[in-house]
Amino acid sequence: MSTSFYARTNEAFWGLLDPWQFLGISVSFIPETIKHVFHTHDFVSGVCILLSPSRFREAWFGRFWTFAGPNIRTGRGDLVLSLLDGRTSRGRVVEEPTGPGVGGVVIEIGPASGLWVDLFSDRHLYEDDSAVAGGQKQQENANGLRRRADTARSQITRVYGVEPNASHHAALRRSVEAAGLKDVYEIVPVGIEDLSSSNNGNKKWEGNIEPGSVDCIVSVLCLCSIPNPKRHIRELYALLRPGGRWYIYEHVKAEYSWYMRLYQRVVNLVWPHLIGGCELCRPTEKTLREAGPWTSIDVSQPPDEPWYHCVPHILGVFTK
Ligand SMILES: C[S@@+](CC[C@H](N)C(=O)[O-])C[C@H]1O[C@@H](n2cnc3c(N)ncnc32)[C@H](O)[C@@H]1O
Repeated sequence: MSTSFYARTNEAFWGLLDPWQFLGISVSFIPETIKHVFHTHDFVSGVCILLSPSRFREAWFGRFWTFAGPNIRTGRGDLVLSLLDGRTSRGRVVEEPTGPGVGGVVIEIGPASGLWVDLFSDRHLYEDDSAVAGGQKQQENANGLRRRADTARSQITRVYGVEPNASHHAALRRSVEAAGLKDVYEIVPVGIEDLSSSNNGNKKWEGNIEPGSVDCIVSVLCLCSIPNPKRHIRELYALLRPGGRWYIYEHVKAEYSWYMRLYQRVVNLVWPHLIGGCELCRPTEKTLREAGPWTSIDVSQPPDEPWYHCVPHILGVFTK
């Protein structure tokens, strides 16, 4: 009993220190970022980037995320894959689809270097040969490919990857090519705030996404970084068609107790300055709920997240 109390206290102690360790790792990327800036730009442009807080922050976050992002992808990859398959309920993975999966015209918000891009590939629609040998029930399509029985996703016809940080674009392009999505995935090099509005006649993107024309929006760890979430989430809501779905895996404001809310606020005094503008205390679920009427909402915190998690998440689907 006392050992387990000691083990739990020890775990909570280190868990509470976790965000500071994450911040420390981010700071350790500053020298590498400076080196990278001069390696990829001439001297004058390099100095201009170092003297511009916003441009340096973008370059720094870009370097840091090449380290942090893949770790998150490894740890939470199955969870997000299940989410897009339509196989989650109340924040947890379930065996049978509970609703439609991703498909049709999709907006991916803030893909960064494209860590999740391969999840949009049609290969997730079909069984691979080794899985087929297990004798699971499948349907065959015209090409003899067997559809996975445990996914409710449909064919993806278009993905708009809305990523304003240009320092991610080369890597994002490589991820798109590696996933075989060159003809499907379009990199939109602006923020969501410039997607369909004319921005006072000053349009930053040549393309246009019509209101009500989007089947799915996918946001993975990015609504913490967008400006003016209330306004821009409402604008994105307008782009979804009736019946369209918003798949979400985001970190949000702590709700566990007053002391975790307070602690999160303290960490957030420095966090956005060192993690590319990411805000810890956003009530993202509430903002999404208030963006407009939804026919169903199945969103919760994954149950395996402990109380001392200063960066709690929500996962699930909003259906318009
Ligand atoms: C924490 S990163 C997550 C990246 C990616 N989704 C992942 O999980 O690896 C947040 C991303 O949101 C992007 N972002 C910031 N402001 C944005 C905006 N206004 N519109 C769209 N994306 C934005 C950032 O450039 C960054 O790539």
